[in-house]
Amino acid sequence: MWINDIIQKNKKIYALSPMADMTDSAFCQIVRQIGGADIVFREMVSSEAIVRDNEKTLGMTDFVEAERPIVQQIFGANPTTMARAAAKVMEHANPEGIDINMGCPVYKITSNFNGCALMKDADLAAKIVKEVKAAIGNTPLSVKIRLGWSDPDTFKTFIPVVEQAGAQLITIHGRTKAQGYSGKSDWARIAEAKNIATVPLLANGDIHEPHQVKEVLDQTNADGVLIARGALGNPWFFYLAKSFPEDSHAIQKITPNERVRIIMAHAQKHVEQYGERGIVTFRKHLSWYVKSQKIGAIIPGIKEWRGKLVRITSIAELETLLEEFLIMIKQ
Ligand SMILES: Cc1cc2nc3c(=O)[nH]c(=O)nc-3n(C[C@H](O)[C@H](O)[C@H](O)COP(=O)(O)O)c2cc1C
Repeated sequence: MWINDIIQKNKKIYALSPMADMTDSAFCQIVRQIGGADIVFREMVSSEAIVRDNEKTLGMTDFVEAERPIVQQIFGANPTTMARAAAKVMEHANPEGIDINMGCPVYKITSNFNGCALMKDADLAAKIVKEVKAAIGNTPLSVKIRLGWSDPDTFKTFIPVVEQAGAQLITIHGRTKAQGYSGKSDWARIAEAKNIATVPLLANGDIHEPHQVKEVLDQTNADGVLIARGALGNPWFFYLAKSFPEDSHAIQKITPNERVRIIMAHAQKHVEQYGERGIVTFRKHLSWYVKSQKIGAIIPGIKEWRGKLVRITSIAELETLLEEFLIMIKQ
């Protein structure tokens, strides 16, 4: 299985974290094309919608071969439904892994006892893990958690329970649900989680720059990292983290021409996936691609240009604006 394959080679796992509306097929293809990521986690899908044969939801698990290996994340609170959904996803897309979302803090999710709410009921979480594992056979099962719901030490008792139930990899975001995205991911507690876990454990949270991968791995001794916001607007993240592990200015290795080439390739794949209207939903990626922190430079006059960029309605308009970008950055 992919987890052991990497770990047996004495390597750390560099993974793209699941992000709703972001880690879709188009984005995962771009991350793969650039290289460096060992595995990509696709955005969460609802187990309830999957078992109802909702076409749009099942379509969210479609992928192209170039994205492999992938892990598909599912969410839900009913063990039988989760098991049936996992089996359906396996039949439909045959991913290299299934991941259970036990970390999402969003009210729409937790109000149905999905996501991080499961950390309040370890018995139910264990039942879900057991049934999903039974439904997917040899396919690796992972669980994505936070430190806890409100108590930052819940993971200490929660990890052994989900491991015992059959989880083969744990990824942990170093915040509680109560924290949402405030404060900082607690890497010291992630180190404690690594000591407790008997299965491989991936660290997550606030690894925003490629050189921080080495930092978090040194501090936590984790088996790898899961990168979310750091990879938005920076699909080069994994390549840079592996090639220039200690360079805090690694992003500057990406030339403006290369940035433009990848933005265009990503836009085209996005439009292939969602149709012509897709250019409107692509704006969310554009706003990440052109943040100063992602470019690694402050460009005079870029604010007004950014305003135009996030209003584009066609690929042709995007092309023209990117030509302007190349002129601006060389000035
Ligand atoms: C836009 C967005 C969507 C997300 N969607 C998911 C999701 O579908 N499943 C999940 O487990 N976590 C989701 N997350 C949480 C991230 O995977 C990650 O745990 C969190 O952002 C912390 O990591 P970071 O500091 O690297 O961003 C999402 C985060 C963002 C910013």
